[in-house]
Parts: sequence; C-alpha cells; structure tokens
Amino acid sequence: MMRPRRLPPCLAAAILTATAVAVLLLSASSPGGALLASRQSPPPPARPEWGPGRPPSFAYWISGTRNDSRRALRLLRAVYHPRNRYLLHLDAAADAAEREAMAEAVRGEPAWREFRNVDVVGEAYAVDRTGSSALAAALHGAAVLLKVGAHWDWLVTLSAADYPLVTQDDLLYAFSSVPRDLNFIDHTSDLGWKEHERFEKLIVDPSLYMDRNTEPFPGTGTRPMPDAFKIFTGSPWVILSRNFTEHCVYGLDNLPRKLLMYFANTAYSVEAYFQTLICNSSDFRNTTVNGDLRYFVWDDPPGLDPLVLNESHFQNMVNSSTAFARRFEEDAPVLKKIDDELLNGSSVQLVPGIWCSNLSKEQGRMDVESCLKWGDINTVRPGHSGEKLWRYISTISQTRGCS
Ligand SMILES: *[C@@H]1O[C@H](CO)[C@@H](O)[C@H](O)[C@H]1NC(C)=O
Ligand SMILES: *[C@@H]1O[C@H](CO)[C@@H](O)[C@H](O)[C@H]1NC(C)=O
Ligand SMILES: *[C@@H]1O[C@H](CO)[C@@H](O)[C@H](O)[C@H]1NC(C)=O
Ligand SMILES: *[C@@H]1O[C@H](CO)[C@@H](O)[C@H](O)[C@H]1NC(C)=O
Ligand SMILES: *[C@@H]1O[C@H](CO)[C@@H](O)[C@H](O)[C@H]1NC(C)=O
Ligand SMILES: *[C@@H]1O[C@H](CO)[C@@H](O)[C@H](O)[C@H]1NC(C)=O
Ligand SMILES: *[C@@H]1O[C@H](CO)[C@@H](O)[C@H](O)[C@H]1NC(C)=O
Ligand SMILES: *[C@@H]1O[C@H](CO)[C@@H](O)[C@H](O)[C@H]1NC(C)=O
Repeated sequence: MMRPRRLPPCLAAAILTATAVAVLLLSASSPGGALLASRQSPPPPARPEWGPGRPPSFAYWISGTRNDSRRALRLLRAVYHPRNRYLLHLDAAADAAEREAMAEAVRGEPAWREFRNVDVVGEAYAVDRTGSSALAAALHGAAVLLKVGAHWDWLVTLSAADYPLVTQDDLLYAFSSVPRDLNFIDHTSDLGWKEHERFEKLIVDPSLYMDRNTEPFPGTGTRPMPDAFKIFTGSPWVILSRNFTEHCVYGLDNLPRKLLMYFANTAYSVEAYFQTLICNSSDFRNTTVNGDLRYFVWDDPPGLDPLVLNESHFQNMVNSSTAFARRFEEDAPVLKKIDDELLNGSSVQLVPGIWCSNLSKEQGRMDVESCLKWGDINTVRPGHSGEKLWRYISTISQTRGCS
C-alpha cells in the first residue's frame, strides 16, 4: 500500500492562511474545529532548514482542562523552540474566556508571533481521560498537527501537569542521531488483572456525545478477548514518528480504524491503542522502542494517578535521564528548581537556547523576558543533560520491537 506523501509547501501555506481566517471567525462566533493562530507578522529573520544534517523537529500536543491555561503556557515556554510545532487544547471544562485568554497570551509572545508555530484549538469538546474521548482528542491533535506542520519528525503528547527535564537544545540534539522512524511507546503484553477488568468489561464514555466532561459508566455484559489482534498496554504518554502518526490518522490500513472502534468501549483506551496498533502492524512493529522517556512515581499501592512530584524527587528525576516528568502542581517550587538547574533559565519565560541570542527584558515590560535578537535556529548546543539523554536513548533504542 502506498503511503501518503507529506504536504507540499504550497498546501501548507494555504492551511496557515485558512488558520488565520478561522481566528477571526472564532473571535466573532465559535466555529467547530477552529484554530486560534498567532497574528500575521513579518517573516522571521532566519528560516528553519530541514532534512539531513539538520536537527529534527517535534510536534507537541499539550492538553489541559479548566484552570490549566497558566500551567500550559508555562510548559509551552519551557519546551519552546522555533523548529517545533505546538498545539494547545483546553477541554470543555474550561470556559471560552480562559481559552481566549490563552490564545491572547500566545499572540502576545514576540517569538511565537514571529515563528507562527503555536496554535490553540478554538473548539471546546468534552474529554474524560479515563475514557475513549481522551484518545479521540489526541488523534484530533495529531491530525491537526499533520496538517499545519509539514516538517516535524515526532509527535509528543503532554498534559498541562507535565514539565521537561531538558532544554529543547538538549532534546533536539539527543534525537539528532535517532532514526526518524522510531516510536517511543512504553508497552507490555502482560495484561494481568487488566485482561478482565479493562478488556473483557465494557464502558460507555458520555464525553463522546455530551457537551460537558462526563465520567464513563460501566456497560452490561462482557466480551471475550480478541483473537484478530493481540492487546498491549502501557503508558498513555507517547512519542510517535511522523510516519506512524500518519498511519494512525489516515487509516489506509484498516487496523487503526478497527482498533479505534474496539477501544471506544474500553476504559483507559489511551493506554492501549497506540501499543496494540503498533505491535500488531508488521510494518511498524520493528520501530517500537519500549519507553516513554517520562519520569513518574507510583504510590504503593498505586493510585489512579502517579504521585505529585516535589523537591524530594528532584535527584531521582535528574538521575532518570528522561526528557519529561509528571505530575506537577501549578507553580510548585520544584518547577523553579528545574528551571534554574536543568533548563538554564528562570520561571515564567522562554528557556534560552542558541536560537535566541539575547533573551532580555523588553523596554516597558518588566514582567517577562523576551527574545530581543534571533540567533541560529538550525543549530543546537546541548548541555550536559543533552549528552546524558543521548546516551540513554541510544541504549534503550538498541532493543526494538514488541515483547
Ligand atoms: C480556578 O482558579 C481560580 C483562581 O485561581 C480559583 O478561584 C478556582 O477555585 C479554580 N477552580 C478550580 C476548579 O480549580
Ligand atoms: C513509512 O513507513 C512505510 C511502511 O509503512 C515505509 O515503507 C516508509 O519507508 C516509511 N517512511 C519513513 C520516512 O520512515
Ligand atoms: C499482531 O500481534 C501479534 C503479537 O505480536 C502477532 O503475532 C501478529 O502477527 C500481529 N498481527 C499482524 C497483522 O502483524
Ligand atoms: C522485524 O524484526 C524481526 C526480528 O528481528 C525480523 O524477523 C523481521 O523481518 C522484521 N520485520 C520487518 C518488517 O523489518
Ligand atoms: C513530597 O512528596 C512525597 C510523596 O508524595 C511526600 O511524602 C512528601 O511529604 C512531599 N514533600 C513535601 C516537602 O511536600
Ligand atoms: C544520583 O546519581 C548520583 C551519581 O551517580 C549518585 O551519587 C546519587 O546517589 C544518585 N541519587 C539518587 C537519589 O539516586
Ligand atoms: C540584549 O539587549 C539589551 C536591550 O536591547 C541590551 O541592553 C544588551 O546589551 C543586549 N545583550 C547582548 C548580550 O547583546
Ligand atoms: C546557559 O545560559 C548562558 C547565558 O545565557 C549561556 O552562556 C550558556 O551557554 C547556557 N548553557 C547551556 C547549557 O545552554
């Protein structure tokens, strides 16, 4: 089967224009699926260059709920780099004013305006993270990012409760020598209690058909384990290659769609969909690396969510050599420590990198620092953490495939 080609540049440009139109529509009314994009601005001083010999590029899907806009923006600053592409979404629990305020903040940051690589989903829809509406949201994000960003290599899913442990210079450096078809998906086929509780039982996720976030409820009856494919589960947080993302979104093979329908009535389908799909796809199975590059800690016995992280986890976090950690509370002091010691910056501003050669306070704006002089956006300069992450990724990506 032929795989769809990447968008030609002219088509990508047309989408950006359409995106800008959608902004106007959103400020007047509220069209479905509209994007709030950054304002038109003069062309950036340096254009990103792509391809062999250049650093890769990431697409970030950052999802949140009510009161998450400040956290999401802080996370966005911490993971920002002009080479990447960003899409932010607040679910139906957040009101239009919060969504609009977040879009306004995006328009207000000179770097984001200059490089026009940050978008906010203008549409509000319900999401329950324990149901399949969370999977629908992630696939929606993937589809939009494929459409608006013609050059990214990997899709990273994050929530507003996440935070990076390395700078983007470090991350782009560490992934520079990684084959661009690799997928970082934590997985196991050892289902244990989940076999009966998650896969034989059915649930209904009303967030798929109600306007408000609504908790799933159990359906009646059970179903046998499938024999057309084998179920794998794992972390809901993934790093997907562009190729595999296209496979999920375009569904030119029938398995991505069949699994989507199968998992519609499964609890925590984001913890099984990508795992089951990749491990049952002979074209992609060998591109799977078993790891999500995230640091988190489970309580004993484990709760519904991993523990909220604080300073007591800092050293373990650093030693984990991972790229992201979760969960954090808004303005937790440990985030400041991460900014200062790992991200080479201070909180509530962009993380410096070689792309920005002068991050300083703009005249008349004493609150945040902005990039006053563009640097080289086609080169990255890693620090110590970048080297460490590179070694870690090289080690875990020695073993590929599903087990
Ligand atoms: C959202 O934030 C506001 C102000 O910070 C606070 O008053 C409110 O209780 C928060 N709502 C929720 C649901 O956390
Ligand atoms: C994408 O995957 C297909 C197999 O499905 C493969 O033939 C192709 O080479 C891949 N392309 C890249 C860029 O990895
Ligand atoms: C689905 O996964 C199982 C287990 O890895 C494997 O035996 C089977 O061949 C896979 N199906 C396809 C179509 O690759
Ligand atoms: C995947 O790896 C296995 C084991 O190394 C090998 O037998 C198989 O041919 C590979 N499949 C593809 C599509 O490369
Ligand atoms: C940090 O988190 C751990 C585990 O949740 C908890 O036991 C500890 O009391 C917390 N420490 C502080 C300073 O909040
Ligand atoms: C982290 O690693 C350093 C150096 O390898 C070691 O000295 C330290 O004990 C480790 N800290 C924790 C909390 O594991
Ligand atoms: C950064 O910009 C500020 C304000 O224009 C200027 O005062 C400062 O000298 C610049 N720093 C560097 C290193 O260029
Ligand atoms: C940290 O920032 C300083 C000043 O902006 C810069 O000189 C240094 O190279 C940066 N270090 C890393 C590891 O990026």
